[in-house]
Amino acid sequence: MTTASRHSVPERGTPDFARFAIGFDQRDRARLHELIDQVLDSGRWSEADMQARFEAAWEEHNGLPAVACSSWAGGALAALDFAQVQGETVLCPSNTFMATPLAAIRAGATVQFVDCNRDDLCMTFRDFEAKADRHKPRAAFLVHIGGHIAFEVEAIADYCREHGIFLIEDCAHAHGASWNGRRPGTYGDAGVYSLYATKTISTGEGGVLVSGRPEVLDHARLYRNYSKPMYEIAGLNFRMSEFTAALGLVQIKRLPEIVAWKNEVARTHLDPIHAGRMELPAGMVSGLYKYIVFDWLEKSTGRVYDEPCHRIMGHDVELPNTDWVARNHSCVPLYYRPSEAA
Ligand SMILES: Cc1ncc(COP(=O)(O)O)c(C=O)c1O
Repeated sequence: MTTASRHSVPERGTPDFARFAIGFDQRDRARLHELIDQVLDSGRWSEADMQARFEAAWEEHNGLPAVACSSWAGGALAALDFAQVQGETVLCPSNTFMATPLAAIRAGATVQFVDCNRDDLCMTFRDFEAKADRHKPRAAFLVHIGGHIAFEVEAIADYCREHGIFLIEDCAHAHGASWNGRRPGTYGDAGVYSLYATKTISTGEGGVLVSGRPEVLDHARLYRNYSKPMYEIAGLNFRMSEFTAALGLVQIKRLPEIVAWKNEVARTHLDPIHAGRMELPAGMVSGLYKYIVFDWLEKSTGRVYDEPCHRIMGHDVELPNTDWVARNHSCVPLYYRPSEAA
């Protein structure tokens, strides 16, 4: 087990963990090459064993069956298509990446933005309930911003269940997080992860949909593959290649160690000097995609998002906490660099 004690922090200058690094452990190179060779030897470069092994490993980690995709967008579009949002309203937090509202728009929905909390940067139940009552949405996104789980996930998921709103958890930041052992993506109808190049673990490009509902999983499997062989769904190609799945397999196996390492470095090196850091509720572990402080730091990786989506899209809606968050937080650089990789 790699720990912070094996991680050397230079006395002067930038600590290793503050320099950008892709979340990949160099010790996994040999294993990755072995898996790539297996793909080369198999003669099957798509829709084969490696994808199945990657999905099984993801399920083991996440607690729900997984569908590998070529991006978060593919998984999100599959979920939105299942929910039949065309011509309907989808609720979406404004404090997110534009991918979230754009996916809903691409699926033919109208987006209504919801405010966030100041303490977790995630969608607030109070405004969610008010907007749901007003707009009667078919579906909603809940984005777990920064690497932790949205503090009000249970209230929002309960409300959605009671009111027949299809809840998609945007887990693009949330790899490795847990709350009393429960993983992101297991609260709503579907959860969608991104494996884009800067994420806590990455395959360069890629995504994973998880769901506890077999009909959602079946829909996603068809959607990512032109709905072969019956062509009853207007899906496209969102398949993950076997080479990507091989990388995904080593990455998901390494994820618990990456999260433990980041939390150890945060506790040892960052918490003592950042009194204004985000505090998590009891039992929650963040994957620490971002280490968030409620200060304005010049030396930082910047903000999670500088400009809220409702402002980018010119929506005339008051979201005071979202505007506050955009001006009052920073991210302290924290990248996985076990000593072996330095
Ligand atoms: C919150 C959020 N949602 C969605 C996405 C989109 O992921 P992808 O680029 O894999 O489609 C990202 C990617 O950065 C993201 O940060």
